[in-house]
Amino acid sequence: MVSSRTSQLADAGLTIRCDLHPAPILGDDRLIEHLAANLLDNAIRYNVPAGFITLATGTADGRSFLTVLNSGPHIAAEQVTRLQRPFERLGPDRTDTDGGTGLGLSIVASIARAHAADLSLEPRADGGLDVTVTFEQAKPDSGRDDARRVSKPHRHAWVLGAS
Ligand SMILES: Nc1ncnc2c1ncn2[C@@H]1O[C@H](COP(=O)(O)OP(=O)(O)OP(=O)(O)O)[C@@H](O)[C@H]1O
Ligand SMILES: [Mg+2]
Repeated sequence: MVSSRTSQLADAGLTIRCDLHPAPILGDDRLIEHLAANLLDNAIRYNVPAGFITLATGTADGRSFLTVLNSGPHIAAEQVTRLQRPFERLGPDRTDTDGGTGLGLSIVASIARAHAADLSLEPRADGGLDVTVTFEQAKPDSGRDDARRVSKPHRHAWVLGAS
């Protein structure tokens, strides 16, 4: 996913740090990939020149997480909640002009909900955003028939951060 965005990252002068550790989850890999791609594309688009992105996966407190963190303009805490709703964007002075539709984060929120995952959006004190999605950690013997809360047909146990 990062390798397919190398030229965008270079054009924007962004530095990306990947801190990837195995994060077993039970879910639909295509949907999770969509979720991660939306977050990464936002982190590239709403950054600052010579800014940075940190992409991290792993486990903590018995749960699996994906974090996409980026530098960027300052965001007020009260603005963050609405960004998960469809068609909500920060003001035009706060974004570039390439015309996002304001749907990406609402899709991310829907995918997180479908996986009973928690979605946290925290503005960074220095500007930019810290987005973390926390999933129930798949047990080693989890399989297709073991999914309790994910209703998608392609659910299976797999490992985020392994590729
Ligand atoms: N990583 C981020 N850093 C700073 N601001 C962000 C970030 N992600 C989203 N935003 C802000 O939240 C708004 C909503 O994001 P969202 O992904 O839902 O829509 P979009 O990127 O504008 O359009 P789309 O994703 O549909 O192309 C963005 O327009 C931007 O103002
Ligand atoms: Mg977006």
